[in-house]
This record gives sequence, structure tokens and C-alpha cells, in this order.
Amino acid sequence: VFDLAIHGKTFSGDLQELWTYVEKGVIACVSKKRVGSADETLELSADEMLLPAATDLHVHLRDWGHSHKETVESATKSALLGGVTTVADMPNTQPELTTPDLVRRRVQLIKSSSYVDFCLHCSLPREPKLLIEMKEAGAYALKFYPKDLYFFEEYAEYASKLGLKSVVHAEELALIGTAAEAKAELNAVKSLVRRIRKEWEVRFAHISTAGALRRILGAKLNSSKVTLEVAPHHVFVDRQSCVKRIGVASAVRPPLRSKRDVSELFFALVSNLIDFYATDHAPHTRDEKFCPNPSPGFPALEIAYPLLMTKVSDPAIACKVYCERPAEYLGIKKGFIKPGYDADMVVFRRFQQRIQGSNFVSKARITPFEGEYLGYSVKKVFIRGELACSSGLPQRVSVRHIK
Ligand code: DOR
Ligand code: ZN
Repeated sequence: VFDLAIHGKTFSGDLQELWTYVEKGVIACVSKKRVGSADETLELSADEMLLPAATDLHVHLRDWGHSHKETVESATKSALLGGVTTVADMPNTQPELTTPDLVRRRVQLIKSSSYVDFCLHCSLPREPKLLIEMKEAGAYALKFYPKDLYFFEEYAEYASKLGLKSVVHAEELALIGTAAEAKAELNAVKSLVRRIRKEWEVRFAHISTAGALRRILGAKLNSSKVTLEVAPHHVFVDRQSCVKRIGVASAVRPPLRSKRDVSELFFALVSNLIDFYATDHAPHTRDEKFCPNPSPGFPALEIAYPLLMTKVSDPAIACKVYCERPAEYLGIKKGFIKPGYDADMVVFRRFQQRIQGSNFVSKARITPFEGEYLGYSVKKVFIRGELACSSGLPQRVSVRHIK
């Protein structure tokens, strides 16, 4: 007798009518035929389908000095509501995550209040040799912001030796906010691509321009360890349309781009050239967004997965970039509905709904997608076979810290 059985349209390599059986939190069997009984059986209706839950590699959970923007609780509830069961937190916290002690404190904070599994990026410590302790304290990757890129080689080399991944926000600091700002990303990417050594694992976060995209695709031909991440706001919305919708609140780093950049990024996404789709969920209050010097970034965890499914209309692509590859990258058994994998799964329902930031559970409610239609809603979310969210109600189940 299995713990749970789910029967209906299921994405497992392709979309087909399947029985998925769960035992002790793990997918035990996936079959076209019924193979046994279960303590609980869920029968999906014709407008529902079962997909793997998503892993989001780029999320600002906030809290600490930024708790007015977002708390770990509000951010991870949003994740769950959006079908995301693993998040990778970013280190530009208040205070910034630059010491082993802060990493330990952050692990404790998130463990005690998160609704989903998590891992941590850390910032550059005072000296590269402290990276050993950062890793021991629980960081899985090192994040370079534009201010840190000057020290890239020194730290990336050390990180690589320790098995810590490097993640770069590629924008040339000196150009940000100047007339030459449009070149900030490409310049930084060109310089980094020259400096990266073959053995370093380097992920380019939120790539936003066609020029940078092409450069990185070129670099990927030489190194299988270079990876590329895109965010929903860069791949689905151009600057002009966003400004029409939300004006100055369109601010984000890197900035929103032209229709041409967006269509080239979108084409790369549907052509399976992009490694990861990640929200860059970056919450700010309404007042911080609508002011003369607006804070950059948007919340997106609640809509990212249904939005991706709506835009690419191919679960194979959606699952690759938001479930399978991010989980493989973290070395966790998630992202697939197949035996041996954690039973982290989402029931999607075909359902037309308008995106309304004011309905977000995230404390941040300004979205570049305001008024757009989603073709799906997230009906149920399972974490290791436990029902963690049903009809919009998140529940706390036991969560893991991934190192
Ligand atoms: O838009 C952004 N928001 N880009 C960043 O690099 C930081 C982030 C934030 O933390 O708000
Ligand atoms: Zn970010």
C-alpha cells in the first residue's frame, strides 16, 4: 500500500495519462496502469495536470533589516502558492551576507520560518580564504554583484577549489546610471567571459540583452560549466509596454530592454538554449517603487510558473528550465516525476485569470505583468508527498536546507 496515488494527465517526459505513486516522500512508481492501492488517492479532473514543482535559483527572501519589504514567511508562502518548492536566497540582505556567522544566522532564520526548501548564496567575505567557513556555515554559492566584479578571479578561483559555485550579476558598475548604461551588461559579460577558467562553475544571472546572450552562448561552447539564467520580466515584457503599465515602478537591475532583446531572449528560451528560468523575486514596497528614485525589482514567485506555462505553452520546455535543470544544478533529486525523485509536485488547473498584484501574498505588489492573463492556476502543491498548499492555502511542512 502506497502513501499517495495521483491519477490523471501527468508530465513525465511527455504529457500522458498516468498513475503516480508516492511512498515515504519519494516517487515510488509511475505507470500507465493502476499498480496498487494507496492510503490516499487523488483523481485529477480533465482540466488538471500534474507537473513537477519548480526550483527557483534567484530569490530575495529579505527579512532582517528589510522586513518591511518582505519576510521569509511572506516570500516562501508566495513560492508555495506559485508551485515553487525550492528557493535559492540572495545575499544582498541587511546586513549583507559577508561573514560565516551571518550565514549561520540566516540558515537559522530561514529554517525556522520557511514554507519551502532553500539554499543560500553568500557575498564576498573579507578574504577569499574565509570562503571555506562560508561553505561550512551553509552557503552553496558565491554571488558577485557589480561592485564585486573587480575581485572576480581571486574569489572565483578559490570558490571553485572548494566546490562553491559562482554566480555573477554582470553589469559594469561604472556605466550604471550613465548615458552608456545600455552597454553595461555586454561590457561586463565580455570581460567575464575572457577571465573565466574552464574548471570554474559560473552562472550568469538575469541576462537581459541579445548581445550578452550571444556572448554567453559562445562561451558555453568552450565550457560546459558556464550557465545562463533569465528572469520572467526580461523574457516576457519590454520596457515600453511596462512603462505604459506601471511607469517609474518599471525600475529593475538590469533594466527592462527593447522589444528586439525580448524577442531574441524568448526565442532562445523556446529553442532550449537557456539553462535556467528564475524570478529574481525582488520585493519592494509601493512607496519605494513609486518615487523619484524607485527601488529596482519585482515580486514574481506567485505567477512565474503559470506565466511560463502560459507563454511557452510547452511543459517540456517549462519543466527543463524551471524544474529539471535547476534541481540538477543544486544536486537534488527533484524536478522530475519519476521513481527515486522527491514527490514535489504541482497540480495545475486550466483557468483564465488576470494577474493582479494587489492579490499577492508577497508584501510587494507591483508587477510588470499587471492585467496580463494566465492560462493556469496552481491548485495543489506537494512537498515530499505532503500536501503543502491547497486552493491558495499554504501549510508549513518540514523543509530542508540544501548545501
Ligand atoms: O532589480 C534588482 N533588484 N536587481 C538587483 O540586483 C538587486 C535586486 C534587489 O535586491 O532589490
Ligand atoms: Zn537578484
